[in-house]
Amino acid sequence: MGEGYQEKLRRLAELLLSANYPMALTGAGISTESGIPDFRSPGTGLWEKIDPFKELSRSALMRNPARFYEIGLPRFRQIRSAEPNPAHLVLAELEAHGYLKGIVTQNIDGLHIKAGSKNVFEVHGHLRTCSCMRCGKEDSFDFLVDLVESGVNPPLCRFCQEGVLRPNVVLFHDPMPRAFYDAAETLQYCDFLMVIGSSLQVYPVAYLPARVEKLAIINISPTPYDSKALVVIREKAGKVFSDLWEVLRQKGKV
Ligand code: APR
Repeated sequence: MGEGYQEKLRRLAELLLSANYPMALTGAGISTESGIPDFRSPGTGLWEKIDPFKELSRSALMRNPARFYEIGLPRFRQIRSAEPNPAHLVLAELEAHGYLKGIVTQNIDGLHIKAGSKNVFEVHGHLRTCSCMRCGKEDSFDFLVDLVESGVNPPLCRFCQEGVLRPNVVLFHDPMPRAFYDAAETLQYCDFLMVIGSSLQVYPVAYLPARVEKLAIINISPTPYDSKALVVIREKAGKVFSDLWEVLRQKGKV
């Protein structure tokens, strides 16, 4: 790692320690080291294999729910079996030590919560529960998975016996959930935002970094916000946050 990297790491630590209300905005890139492919990395991104707008959108679910689950269930299962990696774990420790006020995540994998983070805004939903598209009743996502795996596809609501169940994730063409508006509201207090593992190409989440005074970007590939950021580190998140933790330890901060 060149001098450039160490210097950037020191700058990142300085910005974090001097911020009044530091937060993080994470995307699929923070979970690739947990074994979950992201969406747009060349060669491995999920969207190179299937067309999300066709296969995993709200209209696809309404049009052909059985096919939606044929395509989606393997990915949902892969996501649910993943474990947090050092980047998730260090972010949880930073919050526990008072150096991070909250995380806005586009990820539905729940890995920030599994890692111990408390103030997490899941702006694209999560895979813990599902809901009936007819009567609106909620159920556990495990129930949905068990149904489909036992051959009941599409999975039907056990309360009204008729409605098709849908995951409580934000699909293309879905409205944004309450968590998105809560995140936008909280970001008004944020004076330093670390963007971690997101290509920042999907709106409205990609509007959020524009509202923050100071930005740091930890992302392997370029993003539209790089020129606005005070520091851009083109390294794996797991490495950057393990090294950042070491810098804070040497400063006697953790
Ligand atoms: N460390 C740092 N960056 C990484 C790593 C890593 N280990 N692995 C991948 N990246 C970077 C990639 O270079 C890419 O720029 O993370 C970024 C992930 O970008 P996307 O795949 O576009 O994921 P994301 O930004 O979360 O997508 C936003 O799009 O399809 C929708 O709803 C879906 O929430 C998703 C949204």
